[in-house]
Parts: sequence; structure tokens; C-alpha cells
Amino acid sequence: MVGKTFGVEELSFSFRTEVVKEGTTNIVVPKLEAYVKEPWEYAPSKAPVFYNPVMKLNRDIAVLALQAYQSMSAREISVCEPLAGCGIRGVRFAMEVEGVLKIVINDINPKAVQLAQFNAERNNLVERVSVRNEDANLLLSRYAAPRKRFDFIDVDPFGSPVPYLDAAIRAIRDGGMLASTATDMAPLCGVHPKACVRKYGGKPLRTEYCHELAIRLSVGCLTMMAAKHDVAIRVLFSHSADHYIRTYALACYGARQADKSVQTMGYLLHCFACFHREAIGGMFSSLERKCPECGSKLNVAGPLWLGKLFDEDFCSLMAKEVYRRRLKEKRVLKLLSLTRNEIEAPITYYVVDEICDKFNLSIPPLIEVINELKNAGFQAVPTHFNSRGVRTDAPAKVVKECVAKCACRQNI
Ligand SMILES: C[S@@+](CC[C@H](N)C(=O)[O-])C[C@H]1O[C@@H](n2cnc3c(N)ncnc32)[C@H](O)[C@@H]1O
Ligand SMILES: [Zn+2]
Repeated sequence: MVGKTFGVEELSFSFRTEVVKEGTTNIVVPKLEAYVKEPWEYAPSKAPVFYNPVMKLNRDIAVLALQAYQSMSAREISVCEPLAGCGIRGVRFAMEVEGVLKIVINDINPKAVQLAQFNAERNNLVERVSVRNEDANLLLSRYAAPRKRFDFIDVDPFGSPVPYLDAAIRAIRDGGMLASTATDMAPLCGVHPKACVRKYGGKPLRTEYCHELAIRLSVGCLTMMAAKHDVAIRVLFSHSADHYIRTYALACYGARQADKSVQTMGYLLHCFACFHREAIGGMFSSLERKCPECGSKLNVAGPLWLGKLFDEDFCSLMAKEVYRRRLKEKRVLKLLSLTRNEIEAPITYYVVDEICDKFNLSIPPLIEVINELKNAGFQAVPTHFNSRGVRTDAPAKVVKECVAKCACRQNI
């Protein structure tokens, strides 16, 4: 659901605007329908200042994650949004998150800065929100010094966050949190593997769980970049939605800790013939292996992050915030309840429809497959990555048998 529109036109800009309400914040944004001539045109990038109403879920979760981080750190925090567009995210942080001492909002586009400044003033935030107009990397580099660094940096760019990660790592304080969005799903999901290797330093695979691999590749890249600065990475939350992936990671200083996070890197081997997959820990492992289930050649993804994608305490803090704020947004509630199931679940997931498609089976309800796997003695939970997906520790052969059993019942 997109933000509520009031239809008010502001006269102070050289472009058409309107006021929307997102979360509990009223904000002036470009009036998108004024910039699309054809229905298939992508309105956010046609407008003179970037604003994408579809990213509301992304920002709703970011507000909860920032509040969870603030309560976890138990002090007043500083925040930076180096690629801010109209300022909706940073202004929401200032309005909706308690314990935020200061926020630096920045964009390279002068019109975006004008609008973000207007939004900060309109919401009486000038004492806590400072709006800048420069290159994100230059801005972050100026804060990369002791006592200047930020507690929370949200990198939300067009496409890949990688060009900004090095500066963001240098500008984050010990124990700070780095949030990042990636919308370049074609490289990360294996449609353009060369671009993924070039940008993220890992090989993707076009598997049914490619969105999970996308998060693992992106965290893997962050881990290796941070390790160069003796900074360790610990993922507290991540999710995939619409056309993007999102990660929230703690950055902790120390060579030993950084070594530990590098040890969490490894590879995923996948068999396209029978759905078998296995994780191989370590950066220097031998990858010349045959599928133990069917003997086919295994395909490699990585190096990538094999560690946890969610943290139990952090997810609880986010859930507490949902309750405290009496949030009713269905997508937020669904995402948080699904990810809580995934905290301790096995790596990768199977997509029931893909198995049915490959083996010519009728498609059974997901819940039946989950119950069948549980009855057979395995762990089985749904995943937020795919509404037809199941995370399980059962071998591919057993998953197929359970799906086939449920499919047969369908035909009776
Ligand atoms: C995806 S939009 C940001 C959306 C915003 N974070 C939100 O939640 O609505 C990316 C923004 O980055 C800005 N940008 C692109 N390159 C930049 C750079 N090198 N430095 C600073 N801003 C940049 C663009 O002008 C655009 O407004
Ligand atoms: Zn196989």
C-alpha cells in the first residue's frame, strides 16, 4: 500500500509536488503522475527528484530496525542517509524514531536537497536534521574520523550499494549499524553473472533461491570490504521484497573479529538435475565435487556469506516496536512473522512449484508439504523469500518424495 495522498500542491518548487503521509510523517514529494506519459514508464526516475512510493515497506522496516538498534545501544544516536532523494527516509527517521540526536541527509541533486530541506523545515526538524548537497562518498569520507563517525548509515542508492560501501565502512563507528539496499537484481540473481563477479566479487547462480544468494553475495562483499579495515560484520536482519534486497549489519572493530567474519564466508554448491545443494565453509575449499545424490556436476555460487541472516534478539526488538506502535501494515507484519521462523532454519530453500514442474507433478498446498516433511522427522518452515518456498534440513531426495506424496493426494 502506498502512502496516503492529500492532493495539496506546493508552490515553492519549480516542479509539481504533493503531500503524502507515510508512517506518521507528512512529507512533500514530486507528483509522480505529472511525469509519466505512458503507463509503462517508471515514474520515480522521470521526476526531477527521486521518490518511490513502492519502497514504503523498505522504509517502514528501516524505521523499526533503527528503533531496535537505538534501544539496543541505549544511547542517543547519529544517523546518515547519504543518498536521500526527497528526504522521506531521513525525515521519517527523525520523526518516528526515539533517541535520534542528529541526522545528516545528503543528495547530489540540488533539487532533491531543496525538497529535503523543505521537508525538514516543514516538520520542525532543523535542529536535528542537516541537509547536504555533495557526492555521497565525499560526505562519508569527511566523517571517517574518531568522534565524527555515525551510529547508523543507510545506503539506499539506484542499483548497487557497492560504490558507497568502502566510505560507509570508514564512516561507521565501532558497534554501528550499516543498512543497505541493492536493486541490481539481474547481476545478483545470476542473469548477468559477470557483472556480479565484477561488483560483488562472488559468482551468482540462477537457482530458485537466488534472492537468498543475492543477500549472501551482498553481505559477502560487505564482509570482505570491511575486513580490509579490520572491521567485522554481523547481520542482524535482512529481507528481500519487490525488486530489491536489504541488509542490516553491525560493524565491529578488531582484526580478530574481522578474521572470524571472513571465516563465515564460503560457497554454495547446487545440482540443477536433482535440487541437491550444500554449503562449503571457507574461502580455500576444494569445489571439484559431484552431486552425492545423483552424480551430476555441481554448480558453484560464491564466495558468499554463509552465516546468519537474522538475529533473534534484534527480531524480538523489532516485533516489540510493531506492538508498541500498534502497526497494522499487513506487509510489515507478514514479513516480520515469516523472518522470525527463518532465524534458526537451514540455509537455502526449495520451491515446491519448481519441483512439481521438473517432475511433472500436480502442485500441492505448501502447508501439506511442510507437514509431510515434519512428519518425516525434518525441520520445515516457510520463507519470506518465496510464498511457495520451504526451508528444510531434509535431503533433496526426501523433499521430492514428500512433494510427490502430497501431489498424489491432490489427484485422489
Ligand atoms: C534510490 S534514490 C534514494 C531514495 C531514498 N533513499 C528514499 O528512501 O526515498 C538514490 C538517490 O541517490 C542520489 N545520488 C546518485 N548518485 C549520488 C552520489 N554520487 N552522491 C549523492 N547522491 C547521489 C540520486 O540523486 C537519488 O536521489
Ligand atoms: Zn544431483
